[in-house]
Amino acid sequence: MSLKSSITGNTKVLCVIGHPIAHSMSPIMHNAVIQDLKLDFVYVAFDILPEHLEKAVEGFKALGIKGINVTIPHKIAIMKLLDEIDPLAEKIGAINTIKNENNHLIGKNTDALGAKVALLNAGFDIMEKNVLIIGAGGAARAIAFSLSKECKKIVILNRTEQKAFSLARDLKKIATIPIEGKKLNEQHLKQYLFHSDLLINTTSVGMAPNTNTILIPKEWLSSHLFVFDVIYNPLETKLIKDAKEIGCKTLGGLDMLVNQGALAFEWWTGEKPNKILMKNKIIEFLNLKQC
Ligand SMILES: NC(=O)c1ccc[n+]([C@@H]2O[C@H](COP(=O)([O-])OP(=O)(O)OC[C@H]3O[C@@H](n4cnc5c(N)ncnc54)[C@H](OP(=O)(O)O)[C@@H]3O)[C@@H](O)[C@H]2O)c1
Repeated sequence: MSLKSSITGNTKVLCVIGHPIAHSMSPIMHNAVIQDLKLDFVYVAFDILPEHLEKAVEGFKALGIKGINVTIPHKIAIMKLLDEIDPLAEKIGAINTIKNENNHLIGKNTDALGAKVALLNAGFDIMEKNVLIIGAGGAARAIAFSLSKECKKIVILNRTEQKAFSLARDLKKIATIPIEGKKLNEQHLKQYLFHSDLLINTTSVGMAPNTNTILIPKEWLSSHLFVFDVIYNPLETKLIKDAKEIGCKTLGGLDMLVNQGALAFEWWTGEKPNKILMKNKIIEFLNLKQC
């Protein structure tokens, strides 16, 4: 596949790092908008093992890489290797985007605003709503912090109870709303699903290739819920399919992915990318893969 027809000695490099990384959709959506805007950039992916992270960060400076997206498992570990961290990302405790300004590396978290914008664009008004978040990893942290100023209450349920407590404790430092962190189990799920307006799955359960796995049986859902699953591969998870069948309003992870990517792209290049093009390129790619 030809990504850019005229890479020259002036072409600036953007990239995503993670391990594994071959599944990443970021090169697809970013190269599409680079071409669309006729910018002299190229976006590539690097598979970086955790033990090579420090050298990779030195490499960003040595090679003059202009912008970097960061994904699993480096979102937390990389923070201490950067020169500056945006205050919101500091509170969240994870970054997903780095800008290289004259060899000064600044880390930000665009997942947080990306998720919030996706919810607003989907017609969900978070003001005064009860939110139930399943999971307490990087995505949960970003989303919980982004919603914690406007919603009425946040409950976090996680398989590893300690991580739910720890996220709730960190959120309480900045939020004035009630926050609870508890063990993910049948009793808590049934109890909090009943009292929630918005259910957000931030775990990787249901992600390809294990697309038939769910944490919440369909019978426990009810039509008053808005269901947001941050997984974007598959485009429609089993949770989202079940929720639609029950009559819930739903949102998949693709819009969050595109929004976080668009925020990063604008920060790096100063140009607003076409988000519809970014989204369509990913849909096209994932649909082709399924054929
Ligand atoms: N749409 C987007 O833009 C976007 C952005 C970021 C992430 N994501 C997606 O979000 C998902 C999570 O990413 P992350 O960065 O938050 O990963 P992470 O930090 O590794 O967290 C993973 C979370 O999933 C939970 N989990 C994993 N397997 C589980 C299981 N079998 N049963 C119950 N809980 C389980 C973990 O629970 P424990 O703490 O008990 O291990 C943890 O809470 C991934 O699918 C990722 O692709 C999407």
